[in-house]
Amino acid sequence: MVDATPEETAPYGGGPAAPPAARKRIRTHTLQQMKDRGEKWTMLTAYEQFTAGIFDEAGVEVLLVGDSASNNVFGNETSLPVTVDELIPLVRAVSRSAKHALVLADLPFGSYQASPEQAFHTAVRFMKEAGAHAVKLEGGIAMAPQVQLLTDAGIPVCAHIGFTPQAEHNLGGYRVQGRGDGAARLLEEAKALEAAGAFAIVMEMVPAPAAAAVTAALRIPTVGIGAGVGCDAQVLVWTDMLGINTGRVPRFVKKYADLHGVMLGAAQEYVSDVKGGSFPAAEHSFES
Ligand code: KIV
Repeated sequence: MVDATPEETAPYGGGPAAPPAARKRIRTHTLQQMKDRGEKWTMLTAYEQFTAGIFDEAGVEVLLVGDSASNNVFGNETSLPVTVDELIPLVRAVSRSAKHALVLADLPFGSYQASPEQAFHTAVRFMKEAGAHAVKLEGGIAMAPQVQLLTDAGIPVCAHIGFTPQAEHNLGGYRVQGRGDGAARLLEEAKALEAAGAFAIVMEMVPAPAAAAVTAALRIPTVGIGAGVGCDAQVLVWTDMLGINTGRVPRFVKKYADLHGVMLGAAQEYVSDVKGGSFPAAEHSFES
Protein backbone atom coordinates (compact mmCIF):
# COMPACT_ATOMS: atom_id res chain seq x y z
CA MET A 1 0.00 0.00 0.00
CA VAL A 2 1.32 3.48 -0.89
CA ASP A 3 1.44 5.90 2.11
CA ALA A 4 -0.90 8.86 1.90
CA THR A 5 0.80 12.23 1.35
CA PRO A 6 0.17 15.02 3.92
CA GLU A 7 -1.92 16.71 1.26
CA GLU A 8 -4.19 13.66 1.01
CA THR A 9 -4.74 13.48 4.76
CA ALA A 10 -5.31 17.23 5.30
CA PRO A 11 -8.91 18.10 6.21
CA TYR A 12 -10.88 19.05 3.12
CA GLY A 13 -11.87 22.73 3.15
CA GLY A 14 -9.04 24.03 5.29
CA GLY A 15 -10.72 24.47 8.69
CA PRO A 16 -10.92 27.80 10.51
CA ALA A 17 -8.59 30.61 9.39
CA ALA A 18 -5.09 30.72 10.89
CA PRO A 19 -4.92 33.24 13.78
CA PRO A 20 -3.16 36.52 13.00
CA ALA A 21 -0.19 36.94 15.32
CA ALA A 22 -0.41 38.95 18.56
CA ARG A 23 -3.71 40.73 18.05
CA LYS A 24 -5.93 41.08 21.06
CA ARG A 25 -9.60 40.19 21.18
CA ILE A 26 -11.84 43.22 20.69
CA ARG A 27 -14.10 43.74 23.68
CA THR A 28 -16.87 46.23 24.37
CA HIS A 29 -14.46 48.43 26.33
CA THR A 30 -12.11 48.48 23.31
CA LEU A 31 -14.94 49.93 21.22
CA GLN A 32 -15.71 52.49 23.94
CA GLN A 33 -12.03 53.49 24.15
CA MET A 34 -11.98 53.96 20.37
CA LYS A 35 -14.93 56.35 20.61
CA ASP A 36 -13.24 58.16 23.48
CA ARG A 37 -10.12 58.61 21.31
CA GLY A 38 -12.21 59.71 18.32
CA GLU A 39 -11.19 56.59 16.35
CA LYS A 40 -13.76 55.05 14.00
CA TRP A 41 -14.42 51.32 14.03
CA THR A 42 -16.11 48.86 11.70
CA MET A 43 -18.72 46.13 11.73
CA LEU A 44 -19.63 43.71 8.91
CA THR A 45 -22.09 40.87 8.81
CA ALA A 46 -20.69 37.33 8.53
CA TYR A 47 -22.58 34.06 8.41
CA GLU A 48 -19.91 31.34 8.08
CA GLN A 49 -16.26 30.53 8.68
CA PHE A 50 -14.44 31.79 5.56
CA THR A 51 -15.93 35.28 5.32
CA ALA A 52 -15.61 35.57 9.11
CA GLY A 53 -11.91 34.64 8.83
CA ILE A 54 -11.29 37.11 6.00
CA PHE A 55 -13.04 40.03 7.72
CA ASP A 56 -11.29 39.19 11.00
CA GLU A 57 -7.92 39.20 9.21
CA ALA A 58 -8.83 42.52 7.55
CA GLY A 59 -9.24 44.13 10.98
CA VAL A 60 -13.02 44.48 11.12
CA GLU A 61 -13.68 45.00 14.83
CA VAL A 62 -17.18 43.47 15.09
CA LEU A 63 -18.67 40.55 13.14
CA LEU A 64 -22.46 40.67 13.22
CA VAL A 65 -24.27 37.41 12.59
CA GLY A 66 -27.33 39.35 11.56
CA ASP A 67 -30.87 38.15 11.22
CA SER A 68 -30.20 39.34 7.67
CA ALA A 69 -29.01 35.72 7.30
CA SER A 70 -32.71 35.15 6.70
CA ASN A 71 -32.52 36.80 3.27
CA ASN A 72 -28.78 36.28 2.67
CA VAL A 73 -28.37 32.61 3.62
CA PHE A 74 -31.77 30.99 3.90
CA GLY A 75 -33.46 32.49 0.83
CA ASN A 76 -36.31 34.30 2.60
CA GLU A 77 -37.56 37.66 1.38
CA THR A 78 -37.24 39.43 4.74
CA SER A 79 -35.53 38.96 8.09
CA LEU A 80 -38.78 37.92 9.79
CA PRO A 81 -38.86 34.13 9.24
CA VAL A 82 -35.38 33.21 10.55
CA THR A 83 -35.32 31.34 13.88
CA VAL A 84 -32.96 31.04 16.83
CA ASP A 85 -32.30 27.40 15.90
CA GLU A 86 -31.29 28.43 12.38
CA LEU A 87 -28.98 31.23 13.55
CA ILE A 88 -27.17 29.31 16.31
CA PRO A 89 -25.00 27.18 13.96
CA LEU A 90 -24.04 30.27 11.95
CA VAL A 91 -22.97 32.15 15.09
CA ARG A 92 -21.00 29.07 16.21
CA ALA A 93 -19.13 28.94 12.88
CA VAL A 94 -18.29 32.66 13.01
CA SER A 95 -17.17 32.44 16.67
CA ARG A 96 -14.83 29.55 15.85
CA SER A 97 -13.26 31.51 13.01
CA ALA A 98 -12.98 34.99 14.54
CA LYS A 99 -9.74 35.19 16.50
CA HIS A 100 -9.79 38.94 17.03
CA ALA A 101 -13.24 40.42 16.30
CA LEU A 102 -16.08 40.67 18.77
CA VAL A 103 -18.87 38.32 17.63
CA LEU A 104 -22.32 39.89 17.88
CA ALA A 105 -25.41 37.67 17.58
CA ASP A 106 -28.65 39.22 16.37
CA LEU A 107 -31.75 38.13 18.29
CA PRO A 108 -34.35 37.25 15.64
CA PHE A 109 -37.93 38.46 15.44
CA GLY A 110 -40.15 37.00 18.16
CA SER A 111 -37.30 35.76 20.34
CA TYR A 112 -37.07 38.72 22.77
CA GLN A 113 -39.94 41.19 22.40
CA ALA A 114 -42.38 39.37 24.71
CA SER A 115 -40.46 40.03 27.94
CA PRO A 116 -37.01 40.65 29.42
CA GLU A 117 -37.05 37.01 30.56
CA GLN A 118 -37.64 35.77 27.02
CA ALA A 119 -34.75 37.97 25.84
CA PHE A 120 -32.55 36.57 28.60
CA HIS A 121 -33.23 32.92 27.68
CA THR A 122 -32.61 33.59 23.99
CA ALA A 123 -29.42 35.55 24.62
CA VAL A 124 -28.08 32.84 26.93
CA ARG A 125 -28.50 30.29 24.12
CA PHE A 126 -26.39 32.44 21.79
CA MET A 127 -23.68 32.88 24.43
CA LYS A 128 -23.61 29.26 25.68
CA GLU A 129 -24.33 27.24 22.55
CA ALA A 130 -22.74 29.47 19.93
CA GLY A 131 -19.93 31.39 21.65
CA ALA A 132 -21.33 34.88 20.95
CA HIS A 133 -19.65 37.72 22.84
CA ALA A 134 -22.68 40.03 22.77
CA VAL A 135 -26.20 40.25 21.34
CA LYS A 136 -28.12 42.83 19.32
CA LEU A 137 -31.82 43.57 19.50
CA GLU A 138 -34.08 46.03 17.71
CA GLY A 139 -36.33 48.64 19.32
CA GLY A 140 -36.34 51.83 21.34
CA ILE A 141 -37.68 52.71 24.79
CA ALA A 142 -39.94 49.63 24.88
CA MET A 143 -36.83 47.43 24.81
CA ALA A 144 -35.02 49.23 27.66
CA PRO A 145 -36.14 46.60 30.24
CA GLN A 146 -34.69 43.85 28.01
CA VAL A 147 -31.40 45.73 27.68
CA GLN A 148 -31.29 46.34 31.44
CA LEU A 149 -31.87 42.69 32.41
CA LEU A 150 -29.36 41.30 29.91
CA THR A 151 -26.73 43.85 30.90
CA ASP A 152 -27.28 43.12 34.60
CA ALA A 153 -26.90 39.41 33.79
CA GLY A 154 -23.50 40.02 32.16
CA ILE A 155 -24.61 39.93 28.53
CA PRO A 156 -23.46 42.97 26.51
CA VAL A 157 -26.23 44.41 24.36
CA CYS A 158 -26.04 46.45 21.18
CA ALA A 159 -29.33 48.21 20.50
CA HIS A 160 -30.75 49.04 17.04
CA ILE A 161 -33.01 52.03 16.31
CA GLY A 162 -34.16 54.11 13.36
CA PHE A 163 -35.39 51.76 10.65
CA THR A 164 -35.70 48.37 12.34
CA PRO A 165 -36.31 45.67 9.69
CA GLN A 166 -38.17 43.35 12.09
CA ALA A 167 -40.83 46.08 12.44
CA GLU A 168 -41.12 46.86 8.72
CA HIS A 169 -44.87 46.14 8.70
CA ASN A 170 -45.39 48.62 11.51
CA LEU A 171 -43.13 51.21 9.92
CA GLY A 172 -44.84 51.03 6.53
CA GLY A 173 -41.93 49.41 4.68
CA TYR A 174 -38.29 50.43 4.17
CA ARG A 175 -38.43 54.12 5.08
CA VAL A 176 -36.02 56.64 6.51
CA GLN A 177 -36.78 57.27 10.22
CA GLY A 178 -36.02 60.25 12.42
CA ARG A 179 -36.97 63.04 10.01
CA GLY A 180 -38.50 66.25 11.40
CA ASP A 181 -39.93 65.67 14.88
CA GLY A 182 -38.66 62.10 14.67
CA ALA A 183 -35.13 63.37 15.41
CA ALA A 184 -36.06 64.26 19.00
CA ARG A 185 -37.70 60.86 19.44
CA LEU A 186 -34.58 59.14 18.10
CA LEU A 187 -32.44 60.95 20.65
CA GLU A 188 -34.85 60.08 23.47
CA GLU A 189 -34.72 56.39 22.49
CA ALA A 190 -30.94 56.38 22.23
CA LYS A 191 -30.58 57.97 25.68
CA ALA A 192 -32.99 55.44 27.25
CA LEU A 193 -31.06 52.54 25.74
CA GLU A 194 -27.74 53.98 26.89
CA ALA A 195 -29.17 54.43 30.40
CA ALA A 196 -30.38 50.81 30.34
CA GLY A 197 -26.80 49.66 29.70
CA ALA A 198 -26.41 49.19 25.93
CA PHE A 199 -22.72 49.21 24.94
CA ALA A 200 -23.48 50.55 21.43
CA ILE A 201 -26.42 51.56 19.28
CA VAL A 202 -26.95 50.80 15.59
CA MET A 203 -28.86 53.53 13.75
CA GLU A 204 -30.31 52.43 10.42
CA MET A 205 -31.61 54.76 7.69
CA VAL A 206 -31.78 58.00 9.62
CA PRO A 207 -30.82 61.47 8.32
CA ALA A 208 -27.12 62.18 8.77
CA PRO A 209 -27.65 65.32 10.93
CA ALA A 210 -29.98 63.45 13.32
CA ALA A 211 -27.49 60.57 13.64
CA ALA A 212 -24.63 63.00 14.24
CA ALA A 213 -26.64 64.73 16.98
CA VAL A 214 -27.32 61.38 18.71
CA THR A 215 -23.65 60.44 18.41
CA ALA A 216 -22.57 63.71 20.01
CA ALA A 217 -25.10 63.35 22.84
CA LEU A 218 -24.18 59.77 23.79
CA ARG A 219 -21.24 58.44 25.76
CA ILE A 220 -21.47 55.02 24.04
CA PRO A 221 -20.58 54.45 20.36
CA THR A 222 -23.13 54.68 17.56
CA VAL A 223 -22.95 52.46 14.49
CA GLY A 224 -24.43 53.83 11.29
CA ILE A 225 -25.99 52.05 8.35
CA GLY A 226 -27.45 54.69 6.07
CA ALA A 227 -26.90 57.21 8.87
CA GLY A 228 -24.07 59.33 7.48
CA VAL A 229 -20.46 59.90 8.40
CA GLY A 230 -21.13 61.39 11.84
CA CYS A 231 -21.49 58.00 13.59
CA ASP A 232 -18.64 56.44 15.58
CA ALA A 233 -18.69 53.24 13.51
CA GLN A 234 -20.24 51.85 10.33
CA VAL A 235 -21.88 48.53 9.50
CA LEU A 236 -22.77 46.95 6.15
CA VAL A 237 -24.22 43.63 5.06
CA TRP A 238 -21.30 41.82 3.40
CA THR A 239 -23.28 40.33 0.52
CA ASP A 240 -24.27 43.87 -0.50
CA MET A 241 -20.87 45.53 -0.14
CA LEU A 242 -18.96 42.76 -1.92
CA GLY A 243 -21.45 42.51 -4.76
CA ILE A 244 -22.46 38.88 -4.46
CA ASN A 245 -26.07 39.98 -4.15
CA THR A 246 -27.23 41.22 -7.54
CA GLY A 247 -30.71 42.18 -6.32
CA ARG A 248 -31.71 45.69 -5.29
CA VAL A 249 -29.36 47.17 -2.71
CA PRO A 250 -30.10 50.30 -0.65
CA ARG A 251 -28.45 53.54 -1.77
CA PHE A 252 -26.36 53.69 1.41
CA VAL A 253 -24.37 50.63 0.29
CA LYS A 254 -20.98 51.17 -1.31
CA LYS A 255 -20.05 48.24 -3.55
CA TYR A 256 -16.40 47.36 -2.89
CA ALA A 257 -16.18 44.32 -5.20
CA ASP A 258 -18.10 42.34 -7.79
CA LEU A 259 -17.95 38.86 -6.30
CA HIS A 260 -20.97 37.79 -8.33
CA GLY A 261 -19.04 38.53 -11.53
CA VAL A 262 -15.86 36.84 -10.27
CA MET A 263 -17.69 33.69 -9.14
CA LEU A 264 -19.90 33.49 -12.21
CA GLY A 265 -16.87 33.77 -14.50
CA ALA A 266 -14.99 31.09 -12.56
CA ALA A 267 -17.95 28.69 -12.53
CA GLN A 268 -18.49 29.19 -16.28
CA GLU A 269 -14.81 28.47 -16.93
CA TYR A 270 -15.04 25.29 -14.84
CA VAL A 271 -18.10 24.09 -16.76
CA SER A 272 -16.31 24.77 -20.03
CA ASP A 273 -13.06 23.04 -18.88
CA VAL A 274 -14.89 19.89 -17.77
CA LYS A 275 -16.98 19.68 -20.91
CA GLY A 276 -13.91 20.37 -23.09
CA GLY A 277 -11.76 17.81 -21.26
CA SER A 278 -9.09 20.24 -20.04
CA PHE A 279 -9.95 19.66 -16.37
CA PRO A 280 -8.75 17.65 -14.54
CA ALA A 281 -5.23 17.91 -15.98
CA ALA A 282 -2.30 15.64 -15.03
CA GLU A 283 -1.40 17.84 -12.03
CA HIS A 284 -4.89 17.35 -10.58
CA SER A 285 -4.73 13.52 -10.89
CA PHE A 286 -3.06 10.86 -8.75
CA GLU A 287 -0.53 8.33 -10.08
CA SER A 288 -1.00 4.62 -9.48
O1 KIV B 1 -29.19 41.83 10.43
C1 KIV B 1 -28.41 42.71 10.02
O2 KIV B 1 -27.63 42.51 9.09
C2 KIV B 1 -28.46 44.01 10.66
C3 KIV B 1 -27.65 45.11 10.04
C4 KIV B 1 -28.42 45.69 8.92
C5 KIV B 1 -27.26 46.13 11.04
O3 KIV B 1 -29.15 44.19 11.62
